[in-house]
Amino acid sequence: PLDARRVAPASRVLIVSNRLPSTVRVDEGRVQLTPSAGGLATGLRGVHDAAGSTWIGWSGAPAELPSATRREIALRLAEVDALGVPIHGPEIAGFYQRFANGVLWPVLHDRDDHPDPDPDDWATYRAVNARFAAVVAEEARPGDRVWVHDYHLMLVPRLLRARRPDLRTGFFLHTPFPDSMASLPQRRTLLDGILGADVVGFHTPAYAARFGDAVRATLGRDVELASGAGFADDDGRAVSVHACPMSVDAAGFAARATDPRVIRRVQELRAAGGPLFVGVDRLDHTKGIPERLAAFERLLDERPELRGRARLLQLAVPSREDVPAYRELRARVEALVARVNRRFATLAWQPVTYVYGSVDEVELSAMYCAADVMLVTPLRDGMNLVAKEFVASRIDEKGVLVLGEHAGAAAELRAALLVDPRDAGELSRAYARALDMSPAERRVRMRRLRARVDAHDVRRWADECLALLGADLQASERRGPGR
Ligand code: ADP
Ligand code: F6P
Repeated sequence: PLDARRVAPASRVLIVSNRLPSTVRVDEGRVQLTPSAGGLATGLRGVHDAAGSTWIGWSGAPAELPSATRREIALRLAEVDALGVPIHGPEIAGFYQRFANGVLWPVLHDRDDHPDPDPDDWATYRAVNARFAAVVAEEARPGDRVWVHDYHLMLVPRLLRARRPDLRTGFFLHTPFPDSMASLPQRRTLLDGILGADVVGFHTPAYAARFGDAVRATLGRDVELASGAGFADDDGRAVSVHACPMSVDAAGFAARATDPRVIRRVQELRAAGGPLFVGVDRLDHTKGIPERLAAFERLLDERPELRGRARLLQLAVPSREDVPAYRELRARVEALVARVNRRFATLAWQPVTYVYGSVDEVELSAMYCAADVMLVTPLRDGMNLVAKEFVASRIDEKGVLVLGEHAGAAAELRAALLVDPRDAGELSRAYARALDMSPAERRVRMRRLRARVDAHDVRRWADECLALLGADLQASERRGPGR
C-alpha cells in the first residue's frame, strides 16, 4: 500500500459534500445552475477555485431524468470542476429530507423534538453514503487527499477506508456537535463512520470536546494521542481531532463595500432615514427568526418614539422547502411579520420588510453596509458566516452586531453584543442598547471584531485544514486550477 503521508506531485484535493457549489434545477427540460446558499457552499467555493480541487456531490436534481439532460448536467458541472453523484427522487426524500434534515439536523442542534428515525430512511442514508464512497473510490488517484463535509455523509470516511485504505481522508462538520446524541439510535454507526477519517475538524473547541466525549461514551474509545486530542482506531491508526473555525473572504467583502453599485444601494436602503435593523438567514428553525421578530415587536411596544422610524429588513433565503418543519416555519414567520406590520404600520412607514428569496452579492453587501444593527440571533448554529460577512463588510467601523451566544461565531466575536435569543426581554434590550450605543463604543467594538475576522479569514481556515490533511493549498495554486 501507498504511504499516505507522501503527497504525489500531481495529487489533488477531492472535496466531498452533499451540496455542490452550484445547484441544478431542471425547468421544462432546461438545465439551470444557481449558486448554492449556505455556509458550506459559500465558504468552500473560493477554496475550491484556489486549490484546483474536484468537488464531488449531489447536483440538486433527481437522477430520474432523460439521458440527454443527465449528460448536459454532467457537462455543466464539469465546467466548475464538479462531479455529480446520482440520487433518485425517493432517496432524496429518505436520505436528505427525512434522515439528514428531519432527524440528524435537529439532533446536532440539540433538539430532541424530531420524529423517530424510520428504518427505511436509515437504510437509504447508508445506501447513499455507500454510493458517495464508491464514486470517490473510483475517482481518487493515489496520493489524492479526500475532504468529506457535513452530517449528510458521516459514514463516508469509514466506507471509503474499506475501499481505499491508501487515501488520507479528512472530515469536517459544519454544524454544532451536540451535548447529547441519546435520542439517536444510530449514533454508534455514525460516530464510527466519522472515525474512518484521519483528521476530524469542528468549528469550535467545545464541539471537538463534545465529540470526544461522545466517542468515549458511545464507542468506549478513550485513547488520547501524544500529538494532541484524538483517538486510535481499532487497527491502531491515529485519528486526530481539531477545532478550526471556518471563516469568510474578508478582503473580498471589504473590497465590495467600496463598489459604486453597493454604495448606491446603501443610499437607497437608508433613504427613509431612521435606524435600520437587518437580518440575513436561510429560512431555518435554528436561526431564531420568530424570536427576533417578537423582540422587534417588543421594542416598538416599549419604545414608542421608534414607531414611524425604526425598520427591520429581513431576508429569508428559501431552504429545504420539502421538509414539513421548514414549511411550518415559513408560515409562522410570515404570520409574525404580518402581525407586526398590522399593529404598527402607517401609510408612510412599514416596520418590517420581509423578503423570501435570494439576492445577488451586490444586494447582500449593501444590506450588510446599510445596517445600523445586524441581528444574527440563531438559537444554535455551527458557525454562522453571516456574522463574519457583516463584520468584514464594515470598513466604516460603524454598525453594531447583536449575536446569539449559541452561534459558533460567538466563541470568536466576543466584541459583539452577545445575547441569549430565547430570552425575549434580553433580546429586545440588546436591540435598544445597540441603538443607544455611543459612536465611540461602536467603533471600538467593530475594530476588535474586524481584527479577528481579518486575521482568521477563510484562507487561513483552508490552509490549516489542508495542512492537517497533508495537502498544500499554495502548491495547488502554483499548479493552477483544474490540474
Ligand atoms: P448556514 O450555513 O446555516 O446557511 P451561514 O451564516 O454560515 O449559515 O451561511 C450562510 C451563507 O449563505 C452566507 O455565506 C451567506 O452569504 C450566504 N447567502 C445569503 N444569502 C444568499 C443568497 N441569496 N444566495 C446565496 N448565498 C447566500
Ligand atoms: O453550512 C451549513 C449547512 O447546513 C450546510 O451543511 C448545508 O449544505 C447548508 O447549510 C444549506 O443547506 P442545504 O444543503 O440543505 O441546502
